[in-house]
Amino acid sequence: MFADEKFAVFDEIVSSVPDSYELTYSPLIRESFLFCLKEVNRKEVVAFKGSMTLSGVKPNSYPEKKVIKKVGYFFDEEFLKNIIKGFESKGLEVEKLELLPAKFKKVLSNKQKEEIDFFDSMLQECFGTSIRSSLEERFYLMNGMVADYYNLLKNSGVDALIFRVYYGLYYFPIILACKMLGITVIDVQHGINGFKHPCYSRFKKNEVGSPLLPDVFWTWSDMATEMLIKDSHIAAGASIVEGGNPIFSTHLHGKGKKVLYTHQPQSKGIPIPIEEIKRVAEIKKREVVIRPHPLHVNEAKEVFDLLKKEGVKAKIEDPNKITINDSLSQSSVHITYSSTCALDALNFGIPSVYCHDYIGDVEKEFATGLLFKLDEINKKNMFPSPSKRVDYSFGNAEKIGVGIKLLLNQKEEVLSGHDVNAGRWGYVLKNKKIDMTDIVEINNETVDYIRGLSFLDIKERCSEITFANLDDVEKVSACLDKTGIVIIPEFITKEVFSDIEKVINDLNERMQCFFSSGKNLEESEKMLIQKDVAKLSGYDQLSSYGKAVAQVRLGKVGQDRGMIDIFNVDLAYPSLKKLRKIYEDSNLLRVVSIGDTFASCKNLNFYLNEGVTETRGFHADSYRPQLKAFIYLTDCISLEDGPYTYVQESHKDSKYRRFNIDVSSVLPNRTEAPFVEKEKITPVMAKKGALVISDQSGFHRGFPQNKGHRRAVAVMNIR
Ligand SMILES: [Fe+2]
Repeated sequence: MFADEKFAVFDEIVSSVPDSYELTYSPLIRESFLFCLKEVNRKEVVAFKGSMTLSGVKPNSYPEKKVIKKVGYFFDEEFLKNIIKGFESKGLEVEKLELLPAKFKKVLSNKQKEEIDFFDSMLQECFGTSIRSSLEERFYLMNGMVADYYNLLKNSGVDALIFRVYYGLYYFPIILACKMLGITVIDVQHGINGFKHPCYSRFKKNEVGSPLLPDVFWTWSDMATEMLIKDSHIAAGASIVEGGNPIFSTHLHGKGKKVLYTHQPQSKGIPIPIEEIKRVAEIKKREVVIRPHPLHVNEAKEVFDLLKKEGVKAKIEDPNKITINDSLSQSSVHITYSSTCALDALNFGIPSVYCHDYIGDVEKEFATGLLFKLDEINKKNMFPSPSKRVDYSFGNAEKIGVGIKLLLNQKEEVLSGHDVNAGRWGYVLKNKKIDMTDIVEINNETVDYIRGLSFLDIKERCSEITFANLDDVEKVSACLDKTGIVIIPEFITKEVFSDIEKVINDLNERMQCFFSSGKNLEESEKMLIQKDVAKLSGYDQLSSYGKAVAQVRLGKVGQDRGMIDIFNVDLAYPSLKKLRKIYEDSNLLRVVSIGDTFASCKNLNFYLNEGVTETRGFHADSYRPQLKAFIYLTDCISLEDGPYTYVQESHKDSKYRRFNIDVSSVLPNRTEAPFVEKEKITPVMAKKGALVISDQSGFHRGFPQNKGHRRAVAVMNIR
């Protein structure tokens, strides 16, 4: 079984447990599923039968965390050395501790017994297998060691402990002892986690109070953080700090031409993606470099022979002589069945061809534009795209420094390094975790600041990013890359407007009818209208329904309540084909595709706002580059009209971005960005017909409108 399949079994069982039952030992049970589940034979769907009665340990029953002055680690100096150096440079003491010899105590507490019974009986009843004896062994080891580690850690005087792979069996008693002593436990990301790593994915509400979980997860990048927190409650139980990969690499993209195939062990049942290799070899007309798994080097010859038989020229690379990053930096394309090297390849902007959903899930979530299945391969997309490079697993000393400051709760220091005045918030944040009320307050303070700007000031900020047209592709593109936004004031002409205005009027009428009907849902041949999520939810569903979908946002006040999004509006109004064509025939795609050639226009949506006075505050749509091209369909010439408002240069990695990610890690939405560089805030004031190209991974918001003001915008999504 693949690790993600084992996780699916665990996830199904744990999902059946109501929130009211605390699971104290689930991290150890996750580990057991990962290593002990070999084969399942499904018998029935999991259903909770009320088979748990005991309450778990409440997190607040452990002592408060000590101020960190001394950090311990057990081994792994090579991996941890840069973080250790970082601690030392901050004046902290660091000490290496010794693991103790294994000891078992064949006793289980009632709660332990109960959790073992529950999970194992579910496995037996629903999946026809058992891991009871392995589970018990693990608990015996933990129970046998915890007292010894308690003494060792107490005597050591450490206030924090740092390591990787928290689910290594010897760590569970250590983590438990740390909780009893108020020692902060820090797990440093050690590899690519994906969305279904059994020990890093989808923590349920009732798991996150477990005393076997680290207090801090140190991740390599925002993408890695996203994988950890997606559909998970982990941030409610632990802090997440993006400090980067402690193993630095300085590789840059080296214009390599190699066609690299990373081979995964067939002995573990992973197939060779032969069709994919053949197709890429045919396109690239180059020999394929086979890179076997370092522990299964002997399989390379078999692959070589198979490829030869299929007419594909190949050679073998020694994974012990050349690192994966070096190898990727020399490649132009990478093929794998399901290896996470496909994610490392993102570091270099190299496309990967993959087979398994494990990688497909990443593409679905992040739209990297660099991960392809067999039927998506073509001559154009099998080249590196430096502009699509994603810093997934790189690290550097500066990132580590920021990670350590955040870890030591020195948030105001992280900010002050950037000449930012977080004002009283720097102090407030030091003492508490932020909540949505604070976010609204910070954003309101920023809105007051913007209202205080003079008209000339706003105009000047806009003029820095304004171009008369898209003729000078390189110049416009450079501005977009630098600032994240450009404005073209007179992009469409008055003639085109008569059609568009008819559409807007018709839409307004239809929406009025819908509102007065009191219904939540109305569907006709070409359009579905719904309030909130009456029928469809999530961007994927809304944007691929096959007809136009108008959605009225309800949600909470302050979250764009009342705004109407119309997805694929051109499916309901064929006259808008003209508008789509204007987008397509312009230089827009050239502007956004410098360095690669695959950008294309996707959905055409309309946004209608009328008197939406409480708009969502500054946020990023995601932390991956995501370009949209707006056209104002009504004049937006004063703040009262609710202009699109963008923070220039906020689309790239910066201290602000990291800081916002950190402060919003405990919020329902991790992409809130209340802290922005005020002097870079740009309300886009322009007349109807203006084009705005914007990278939505930068901080932006709709400025709150005044009552009675209307704004209509066309939005072309670009991929
Ligand atoms: Fe947004």
